[in-house]
This record gives sequence, structure tokens and C-alpha cells, in this order.
Amino acid sequence: MKILVTGGAGFIGSSLIEELLKKGDKVTCVDNFSDYYDILFKKENIRRLKNKRLRVLNVDIEDRARLMRLLKGLHFDKVVHLAARVGVRNSLKNPDLYIKTNVTGTLNVLEAAREMGVKDVVFAGSSSVYGNDEPIPSKEDAPCLKPLNPYAMSKRSAELLCYTYHMIYGLNVTILRFFTVYGPKGRPDMSPYIFTQSLLTGKKINLNGDGRATRDFTNIKDIVRGITLALAKPFGYEIINLGASRPVSIKKFISVLEKITGKKAKIKYLPSLSGESRNTYADTSKAKKLLGFESKITLEAGLTEFVDWFKANRLG
Ligand SMILES: NC(=O)c1ccc[n+]([C@@H]2O[C@H](COP(=O)([O-])OP(=O)(O)OC[C@H]3O[C@@H](n4cnc5c(N)ncnc54)[C@H](O)[C@@H]3O)[C@@H](O)[C@H]2O)c1
Repeated sequence: MKILVTGGAGFIGSSLIEELLKKGDKVTCVDNFSDYYDILFKKENIRRLKNKRLRVLNVDIEDRARLMRLLKGLHFDKVVHLAARVGVRNSLKNPDLYIKTNVTGTLNVLEAAREMGVKDVVFAGSSSVYGNDEPIPSKEDAPCLKPLNPYAMSKRSAELLCYTYHMIYGLNVTILRFFTVYGPKGRPDMSPYIFTQSLLTGKKINLNGDGRATRDFTNIKDIVRGITLALAKPFGYEIINLGASRPVSIKKFISVLEKITGKKAKIKYLPSLSGESRNTYADTSKAKKLLGFESKITLEAGLTEFVDWFKANRLG
């Protein structure tokens, strides 16, 4: 298949492209190598993927004219739209950037898909759209009308835009709501990376809240498998949770890391931050029913691999 992956230089995108290339697909990656975190990490992700079947276009999805120009005349079977401004905390400081990339940028990607005659789109949704909605575990039919931060609001808005494009133009869109993804090439702004780095370098962990909030940490291998399953099975318009469905408290998460690294965490407790969900927990019965998806990687196994990767790639 010929697949366009936006955000392909990032954590999830580069992990997905690696898998698609292994399967023999032809991939075009669209990414503007944004400087939200170290650009060298993204360049390294792409360098490692070097392959005759991979084309990389350095373009900002906010720039519709340039995006259209670069994609003109190209043919794709599928689009996986992962490019986004990420990070809940940063979205509190720069809300306008999140609207531009995640809403207007998504509009541009949907327009490009329409223009190129692509029928099937997979979009990266986020567990953050559930906010503090009850009940938990979260199900896809929850209204998601109370986003707690601009990032969540922008991802929810983009989902609605996908629905509109499905209704008007018949685009098949599968929205996969990812739950706290971790693993090799993981993002340096996320807790698995920050905690591992702090433990391995003997630094203090600044922890907002009492450590009892829970997260449904999901391994990147499960996420990549979920995306490939969704690519193989277009529906009209569906929203599907992709999560481990095994939430753990932040305290428990740190204690698993302590065991794996053999180091004791020095934790400094700070006040909770507003704008963050208290708990995330995916109900994955729809993923199982529609995609045959179930998380396979345990937290212990996934974190052991992550710590090994971190030692080999991020220390010294
Ligand atoms: N990592 C998680 O836990 C998680 C959870 C829920 C949802 N998601 C979603 O998954 C997707 C991938 O996230 P990730 O963790 O790999 O993040 P990432 O930051 O590693 O990857 C995102 C990529 O998008 C690119 N990008 C940003 N703005 C762009 C623009 N204007 N034009 C072109 N490219 C742009 C960045 O350069 C980056 O390479 C995002 O849509 C994110 O919202 C991630």
C-alpha cells in the first residue's frame, strides 16, 4: 500500500513507519520537525528509517498551499494523520498554537486527502478528550464536552471535523484515541521519560499531585499494532480507544521503574496542576470487537525494554 503518515518523524509516527516499511508498504512522511522537543531526536528517528520506499516531506500542515503543492500528483491508498502540537501543559501556555496545528492543520490534511482522492483516513485521537468524565473506564460514546485544557479541546474539535468530512465527502475516518503511550523513542516531555531519566541520573522527581492519580500507560508496540489493524479495516466513521486497559497510579508506576532500574526515587511533591485528568482508563471492548485488538505488553515488560533503550540511547 501507499501510505501518507503525517507527524512521521515523531515518537508514534516513526515507530509506525518502521512497521509499515517492514511490511513492504511505500510511505510518505509529512513533518515540519517542530522544536517542541529536541529536533535531533526527530532527525535521528528519520535517519534510522532510511529506505528506498520512504519519502520525507518537510512541510508544516498549517501551510495548506505548500502542503497541496508538495502532494500534488501523488497517489495514496491511506492517510494516517498523527501530526499535532502535543503536551497538555504547554497547551495551557500557548493555546493558539494548538488550535492552529491541531484544528486548522487537520482541516488541511482532510482537504489534501479529499483532493488526492484518498478514501481512508486514520486519525490520532487522545484519551485527554474524556477529561474527568464519569464513568470510568471511558467508553467511546461518552459526550466529551468538557475538555480540561486547550490540547484536549483541539483534539476533540479535530474529531468533529473528521466527522463532518465523513458526512459531506464520504471519507472513511477511524479515530483512535491513544492512552499515555510509552516505549523506545518516547517523548521527552512525558512522565515515563522524565521519571526514567531522573532515576538513572539520580535527579529529583518533581511530582505534581499526591501520586494517586492513575494513567492507562500503553506500550508503543500495542499502539502500532492497533493502527495497522485500523488501516486494514476501514469503517465509515468510528472512534476507537487504544489503551492497555490496566491503569496504574503514578506512585505504582514509579515503584515499577525503581525495581527495574534498581534505584530509589527522590520525589518532591508539588501541588496538583489544573487542566489534567485525574484518571485515565480505556474501555477497549470496542477495539476488541471491531479490530480484534487487545493490549499484549505488560507494564513490567514494556518498561524493562524502555529502560534498556534509554540507557543505550539517552545516557552519556
Ligand atoms: N504519545 C502519547 O501518549 C499520545 C497520546 C494521545 C494522543 N497522541 C497523539 O498521537 C500523535 C503523535 O504523538 P507523539 O507522541 O508521537 O508526538 P510527537 O511530538 O513525537 O509527534 C508529532 C509529530 O508531529 C510533528 N508536527 C507538529 N506540528 C506539525 C505541523 N504543524 N506540521 C507538520 N508536522 C508537525 C512534530 O514535528 C512531530 O514529529 C499526536 O497527534 C498526539 O496528539 C499521543
